[in-house]
Amino acid sequence: DWTTGSVIEEQVEAIREQVGDKRAICGLSGGVDSAVAAALVQKAIGSQLTCVYVDHGLMRKGETEQVEKDFVASTGVNLKVVDASERFLNALKGVSDPEEKRKIIGREFIRVFEQAQAEIIADEGPAVEFLVQGTLYPDVVESGGGTGTANIKSHHNVGGLPEDLEFQLIEPLRKLFKDEVRMVGQELGLPEEIVQRQPFPGPGLGIRIVGEVTKERLDLLREADAIAREELTAAGLDRDIWQCPVVLLADVRSVGVQGDGRTYGHPIVLRPVSSEDAMTADWSRLPYDVLGKISTRITNEVKDVNRVVLDVTSKPPGTIEWE
Ligand code: XMP
Repeated sequence: DWTTGSVIEEQVEAIREQVGDKRAICGLSGGVDSAVAAALVQKAIGSQLTCVYVDHGLMRKGETEQVEKDFVASTGVNLKVVDASERFLNALKGVSDPEEKRKIIGREFIRVFEQAQAEIIADEGPAVEFLVQGTLYPDVVESGGGTGTANIKSHHNVGGLPEDLEFQLIEPLRKLFKDEVRMVGQELGLPEEIVQRQPFPGPGLGIRIVGEVTKERLDLLREADAIAREELTAAGLDRDIWQCPVVLLADVRSVGVQGDGRTYGHPIVLRPVSSEDAMTADWSRLPYDVLGKISTRITNEVKDVNRVVLDVTSKPPGTIEWE
C-alpha cells in the first residue's frame, strides 16, 4: 500500500539502477515538481547530480533566494545558478505583446539552460547522460504516456560538443499526483515555502506587467505582490485560494490624491481565484477586510501605485493570468 516512505525507497532504488556511475542534470524552476524530483534524485545519487537554476529576473520577491539558500541547505544539492536577468530584460526591451513576450522568455530560457548544460558537460565529461524532469501522472496521461529521451539542440557549442545532445530522462514523479508530490517533498525535508507553493507561470512576472517589462516596473510589481501574499498568508487564506496573480497595468494611469498632492499613478489588479485544475476557475470571494488591508498597504508602500482594483471575472471567460 501507498506511503510516502515506500515511494521514496522504491524511486531511490530505481534511480540508482538507472544511472549507475553516470551523471545527471536537473533544471530547477522554483516550483514544486522540479524541486521534489531533484531532491529525490539527489537522495539516490548525491553528487552525481548537478542542478541548474536560470534566474531570469522575473521571479517574485524571495523566490530565487529560496532556491539558492533554503533548497540547497535542505538537500545538499550541487547547484549552478545562472544570473541572466540582464539578458532577459534586454531581450524584452520594447515588447508589449503577450505572445511575443512568452516566445522571447521561452527562447532565452532554453538558450541559457543549454549553455549551462554544455558548460557542465565540458567540466564533467561525457558521463552526463541523464536529464531529470518533474513530469507528473496527469502530464503523462495528457501526452499519451510516452517515455524516453530528450533531444536537445545546442545553439551554443562550448568546447566542441556535438550539435545534438541526447539525454535519457529520469522522471521519478511519473506515477504521482500533485498532492502526493507535496507529501514526498515534505518527507524529504524540503522547505514549506517550496512544497506548498501555489502555481506560478514559467514566464513569471513578465506576463503580469501589462505593457513593456522594465527593471523599475518589475521591482514595483514584486513589492505589491509580496504585500498581497503576506496579507493572504496572515489571514490564513493560502489553502482557500488556488493562486492570486497580482498584475501591474503599466500602460494605464489614473488620477489620485496622496499626502497633500495630486498623483497620476498606475493601478494594481488583484486576481484571486479558486480552482481545481486551472482549466476553469471562479473569482475568490475574499473577506473585505483582507482586501482593504492589501489595498491600503500597496498604495501606501509601493511607489507610483495609487489604485488597487479587484478582478471579479471567472474562467471562462477570463483566463487566470492577464497575458
Ligand atoms: P491561464 O492564464 O491560462 O492559466 O488561465 C492557467 C494556469 O497556468 C498557469 N500558467 C502557466 N504556467 N507556464 C506555466 O508554467 C506558462 O507559460 C503559464 N501560463 C499560465 C497559470 O498561472 C495558471 O495556474
